[in-house]
Amino acid sequence: MKIVLLGPPGAGKGTQANVLSNKFGVVRVSTGDILREAVKNDRDADLLIKTYMDKGELVPDEIVLSLVAERISRNDAKGGFILDGFPRNKNQAIELENRLKNLGVKLDMVLYFKTKGSTSIERLTGRRICPKCGLNYHIKNRLPKKDNICDVCGIGLIHRQDDKVETIKNRLKVYKNQTQPLLKYYKDLGLLREVPGDLDVDDLFKKLKTLFANENLI
Ligand code: AP5
Repeated sequence: MKIVLLGPPGAGKGTQANVLSNKFGVVRVSTGDILREAVKNDRDADLLIKTYMDKGELVPDEIVLSLVAERISRNDAKGGFILDGFPRNKNQAIELENRLKNLGVKLDMVLYFKTKGSTSIERLTGRRICPKCGLNYHIKNRLPKKDNICDVCGIGLIHRQDDKVETIKNRLKVYKNQTQPLLKYYKDLGLLREVPGDLDVDDLFKKLKTLFANENLI
């Protein structure tokens, strides 16, 4: 299974990518997580990444492309991958296609999580994440077992710096201007499949499972 998850911030891409990765044993490659991990290194180059992320702007392509190229060429991605948050603009999509051609593989499908702007804002302002394992929760609809503590790591959850309302609004604008045009790009390639991002996590998973079965991906 080699798929891309496309959709606005807060559409539930990361949540569903984790579910799919656990159920089908396919690697999840999240550029957001890779970039956040790089920022933890605290080198000057990595701190530059943070300035883009904190504003909700896209990190420059050359940085993202080299990180993704390295990640998808690793052994654990040979059996398939779920790209979460990448590509994010046409240049990234073209570079991905070239890279996959060199590796002798093709994308199976691009899943578009169609989601209302109000859903994005409600989900992101209420999102809390574990700073260690990255697992995400929500203050209303995905509560940890103990208040504000990660079920897996047992440490305190945090509110992402870019999950403040003003930054979310900018991320939605960036999505509309730079990422949304990819819907037509992948539609023209016959790869786009639309799914309702507003569904709850389990119902959406069931829908995806049916879709994968119909297209012989599982
Ligand atoms: P990134 O981390 O990729 O953020 P994003 O795309 O904005 O997506 P999110 O993680 O905010 O949302 P999601 O759709 O994954 O939703 P989630 O499942 O977490 O990118 C962050 C930044 O990094 C970018 O702004 C940019 O600066 C940079 N970046 C990343 N990739 C880049 C690239 N390719 N090029 C350049 N720059 C890049 O869910 C959200 C909340 O809702 C959670 O609390 C969750 O519990 C809850 N929830 C999820 N699904 C459901 C559901 N079905 N029902 C109810 N609640 C749900």
